[in-house]
Amino acid sequence: MALHREPEISHHERATRDKIVAALDELGIPVRTYPDFFGVLGFIGQGRRGPVVALRADMDALPVTEETGLPYASRFPGKMHACGHDVHMSALLGAAAILAQEPDRLGGPVKLIFQPAEEDGGDGGALPFIRRGCLRDPDVDYVVGQHVEPGVPAGSVGVKPGPCMAAADTLRISVRGRGGHAASPHQGPDAVLVASEIVCGLQAIVSRVRNPVDPVVISIGQIHGGTRHNILPDVVEMEGTVRTFRPATRNAMEAAIRRRVRSIAGSLGARVSIGYRRGYPALWNPPAETARIAEGLRAALGDRSVVDLENPVMGAEDFARYLERVPGTFLRLGAGIPGRPASLHSATFAPPGETLVTGAAALAIAADSLQSGARP
Ligand code: NI
Repeated sequence: MALHREPEISHHERATRDKIVAALDELGIPVRTYPDFFGVLGFIGQGRRGPVVALRADMDALPVTEETGLPYASRFPGKMHACGHDVHMSALLGAAAILAQEPDRLGGPVKLIFQPAEEDGGDGGALPFIRRGCLRDPDVDYVVGQHVEPGVPAGSVGVKPGPCMAAADTLRISVRGRGGHAASPHQGPDAVLVASEIVCGLQAIVSRVRNPVDPVVISIGQIHGGTRHNILPDVVEMEGTVRTFRPATRNAMEAAIRRRVRSIAGSLGARVSIGYRRGYPALWNPPAETARIAEGLRAALGDRSVVDLENPVMGAEDFARYLERVPGTFLRLGAGIPGRPASLHSATFAPPGETLVTGAAALAIAADSLQSGARP
């Protein structure tokens, strides 16, 4: 509740870090913190023989003003845990309490990773944390994370082997034409018209360049240009996102976008500059580890509590950085309430308490499944 009431956005998770350290202290779990980074590591069953499992929760909130009206709603206007990262932290603390109760029964050490800045989108928080050695000392054999999912019923956990979430890149385009009176557009080039052609031209890449069975999204999320109805601006700026699954498709899309944008601008006589920044890679769940965890979840929670997800989503998550280095899985934690739709990142997103209980159990069961192997 305190985590939800006092959200902090990416790179500002200082008080959140302090709350986590206090909670781990109370559980008697040793921690590691950093002077220049808000991540926290916790260590359970140190020195035990067996595979090292890391369990990860992200910590940051979003710049959204909460409108849930809940008694524990955010105290800070313009900041809200609208992506459920408070649930992820609480569930990891819950799992830590379960696992730390009887450390002698653990099949190996468990490392808790509380990671800041997941919403950052650029380097995120996972990469800086990995560079600071969060997967070493002791070296991590498996990693498990989870994210709340309104599309899965509360009380259940969604599993998805293979491609799970997309790679996310940022596209910035600046179109330079020649401004002037809107009644004399022939003196152009008109940057607004060129920008419009580019927006449409990008969608032709999605429909005609990529393979139809290989998902790609290109969305322009913002366009800025102009000051008045009768003045053509010199410059129009656009920003968008490019989502892909396969590395080869990711490269092909970047090349196709650069080509298409230059050719449209060139054909209309405008100059253009293109910025393309690679964000998080695609998240791919190794099938063997995902199956072991799913089996453990079914045995402990019942068949009906585990949902086999058919499709990946085009959202992105920097947990992919851990899975690039260590096998494991990323679970979709059920947060759906029948008849009460609320999407992630919305001001009314309010996962039920049941989600937290299931999330804590799911992480503890996942660690156990990986350390004891598949149960008969
Ligand atoms: Ni999130």
